[in-house]
Amino acid sequence: MKGLILAGGHGTRLRPLTFTGNKHMIPIANEPILYHGLRNLAEAGIREVAIILGPIQEGIQEGVGDGSRFGLQVTYIQQGEPKGLAHAVLCAREFLGEDPFVMYLGDNLLQDGVLPFLRAYEREHPDAVVGVTPVSEPSHYGIIELEGEKILSIEEKPAKPKSSLALIGVYLFTAKIHPIIEKLRPSKRGELEITEAIWRFLESGARILPLHLEGWWKDTGLPMDLLDANEKVLGSLPAERMRVEGVIADGASVHGLVAIGAGSLVEAGATIEGPAMLGRNVRIGAGSHVGPSSTLGDGVELSGASVRRSILLEGARIVGPVRIADSLIGRKVLLSARHPSPEEIALIVGDAAQIRL
Ligand code: G1P
Repeated sequence: MKGLILAGGHGTRLRPLTFTGNKHMIPIANEPILYHGLRNLAEAGIREVAIILGPIQEGIQEGVGDGSRFGLQVTYIQQGEPKGLAHAVLCAREFLGEDPFVMYLGDNLLQDGVLPFLRAYEREHPDAVVGVTPVSEPSHYGIIELEGEKILSIEEKPAKPKSSLALIGVYLFTAKIHPIIEKLRPSKRGELEITEAIWRFLESGARILPLHLEGWWKDTGLPMDLLDANEKVLGSLPAERMRVEGVIADGASVHGLVAIGAGSLVEAGATIEGPAMLGRNVRIGAGSHVGPSSTLGDGVELSGASVRRSILLEGARIVGPVRIADSLIGRKVLLSARHPSPEEIALIVGDAAQIRL
């Protein structure tokens, strides 16, 4: 079994979070989104993984390297032009050979990883396994219509969805999918669609097994999705990942599951309420408060500020009695306030911005 991770915009509809760099490298619980996917593949026993690089690939090769840190052998394949998800599979044809493979969209996070896909494959030997889960906005996803296990229709982002069951961005295919993909023609938006490949695969007589997810799943396309994902991941991390390597001063109060990286300091008079994750060399000054579902990257500083359900990237500083919630704050941002904010404010701020409130 091989793994294919798509990272960096493979379609015509690019949604890069340019203000904070490559979205696949944005940390969720202090680890880039992409690494969660790599870990999922490693935990399922997959060793050989290709990362298909699209136009937005900043930081990926530098961060992942040869993959040995994850127990993987990682190969990089350039997609060239972003001609769709099925086109990415075409680019990996040589790497995949005749092996079955798990295809994983690098901005997807799922609680139970990919092991349930492999188990279903080993148990039933279908030609493909597709993960499905109910969603509230079906016109944003690939939608599958089922009658029991029988697939009635599959459509990509339909205007009039026939069901609310989405195809998530994780699929397991046997090598029989390749001739189907080789025959695909570009869709209206100019892409080779994986959704259409799955439908044609089914029409060719392939057995496609829908796998209903038990745990949560999140496609992190938008900043708000990142905050949801951060909350979900922090809420389900095992206690052993929540280590305190930094210093909690006497007179500081820390409750719940909290990770504090080496070199960090929680000063007297500061409070932290988990689940929360603080990177290395973070400083939480007196009178500051870190509330649940917060991830603070390396070198973040709070001086008298309060933060809740937010992601602060490396080197961000918040100075003064400001209260932020549901916010994504870029690298090296300086946010300062002289007067207390009457209520919590929600901000999406790009790297290196300086804001005075
Ligand atoms: C892609 C797929 C879609 C799927 C979704 C899941 O869409 O084309 O079928 O439901 O991923 O994340 P994208 O989010 O890339 O537009």
